[in-house]
This record gives sequence, structure tokens and C-alpha cells, in this order.
Amino acid sequence: MSSDVSASPSPAQQGSAQQRGSAQPTALYGGQGTRRVTVRDLAAAKARHEKWPMLTAYDALSARVFDEAGIPVLLVGDSAAMVVYGYESTLPVTVDDLVPLAAAVVRGARRAMVVADLPFGSYQASVPEALATAARFMKEAGVQAVKVEGGRRILPQVEAMVAAGVPVMGHLGLTPQSVNAFGGYRVQGRGEDGEQLLADAKALEAAGAFSVVLECVPDELARRVTAALSIPTIGIGAGEGTDAQVLVWQDMAGLTPHTAKFVKKYADMFTLLGDAAREFADEVVSGAFPTPDYSYK
Ligand code: KIV
Repeated sequence: MSSDVSASPSPAQQGSAQQRGSAQPTALYGGQGTRRVTVRDLAAAKARHEKWPMLTAYDALSARVFDEAGIPVLLVGDSAAMVVYGYESTLPVTVDDLVPLAAAVVRGARRAMVVADLPFGSYQASVPEALATAARFMKEAGVQAVKVEGGRRILPQVEAMVAAGVPVMGHLGLTPQSVNAFGGYRVQGRGEDGEQLLADAKALEAAGAFSVVLECVPDELARRVTAALSIPTIGIGAGEGTDAQVLVWQDMAGLTPHTAKFVKKYADMFTLLGDAAREFADEVVSGAFPTPDYSYK
């Protein structure tokens, strides 16, 4: 890769670079960055041993909230199948379903890198299929990277996308697109399977992936993978040893009533929204809303 032409700017250049919105962030979370986070920033954070958060987002408004909260990476996950479209698994969601959501997230976030999941059936069959799907997300939605589930079995796709200039995030462990093959949502990578997962992670790194999600794996395995890779690992149900952590935002905010053991709820939005809806409804029924304050003369 060529050297970074924006590295070490003079003070005068720094001023104009900041006005153009290209200042370097000092930290991924809580930094002063005024331009979009890039794969280079994530690599630098790993080198600094700096942990960072990732959240899912599926619309412009939540993307803006998380972006302004300083979340450096937003994932338009195929979990949209469940939390947006109401399906029971991630399998039914299509590229046509996800591209408009990804475009909305890109419009809502100014600083965060936006990563889009390639949905089930849109990249596994062949390299041309993977390239065409990734190109749709980058051209039509404007995302900065894509995520794919699987290790060595999809290596040709990962290599081809990286060669075409598409930053690729890998995803290993409990990959929900394979839920039927796993026989349910169960912890992966125990015992001998852990060696296979480690080999998959190394293969993804060698193929050029810029990061790897580790979902529902024993924390000791996640630590080993994190120590073995020079690219960041992003854990979900993978313990405390990964470089980053991701949660589905509706789980994190307590909007989804039933969640997995690894989910910590940082708010109770199910109750909050329900209470607001009930209060609104009560006031409409009683005539307490709208008062003249909310009306036009
Ligand atoms: O689709 C999704 O939301 C994901 C995250 C849980 C990693 O893949």
C-alpha cells in the first residue's frame, strides 16, 4: 500500500485539513475525529491496544444517535431480518431489503464507518456473486465495508472482494446464517472445533479481511484468536478478551424482550416506549391532548 499522503501534516495543513473534515481521530471512541473512521484507524487502535464499541443500526435516526455518541463502527446487520422485518431468523432477508436500510444509515452517520452484512444466499455460490453483491452495497448504499459469515470455505470470495478494493469484515463462531446446520443457536468452537476456528481466523486475515467478528465462542478461544491476529477481533458473546464488542442495538437498549445471556441491557426502552404510547393513548381518549399549546390559531 502507498504511504498515507495525509500523514504528519504541517500545522498550516492541519488547519485546512480540519476545515475539510479530515483530521485524524485521537481515539476511536471519545476522539475528536471529524472525518469518517477508516480501516486504518481500526488497525491503529489494535496497535494501541484500544478497545472500541460497535452497534448495529438500520435507519438514519438511530445511526445519527449512535454516531453522535461516538460509536466508531455501525453494522447494518442481517439481524434486520428479525428486529426490522419480524422474521424468526436472518435467512429470509434479501439484498433488496438491506440496501435501502444501509443507505439510510450512511446518510445518518457522519463519522462512523458503516459496514453492511451480505445476506444469506448473496455471496456463497461464487466469486462473481460476492463481487456483484458487495458492489451493490458500496454503489447504491455507500457503505465503506461489508461483512460475510464463514472462514476457509468462502476464502476465494474474500480474496476477490479485497482485491477489488472492498474492505471485508469476517464473522466466525455462531454464524446465524448457518443456524440450521448448527441445529440451533449454540456456543461454537468448543474442544477441537476451536482449532478449526483459529485456522479460519488466520485464513481470513491472510486473505485480507480487516477484522473478524467472533460470536458465541468460549472466552479463552476468543483470547487466543485475538492474540494470534494482527487485525481486530469484535466479540459478541465471546468474553472480555476481544479488541472490540458489538451488540444489536435493540438488545443493548432493552427493546427486545427476550435476549441471549451475553446481552447486557443498558436501558429499558420496551417499558419506556410502552409507557409513552399508553400515556399518549390515555390523553387522546380523555381529551387531554392536544391542548391549545399544541394547536394552531
Ligand atoms: O447481523 C448482525 O447483527 C450481526 C451481529 C450480531 C454481529 O451479525
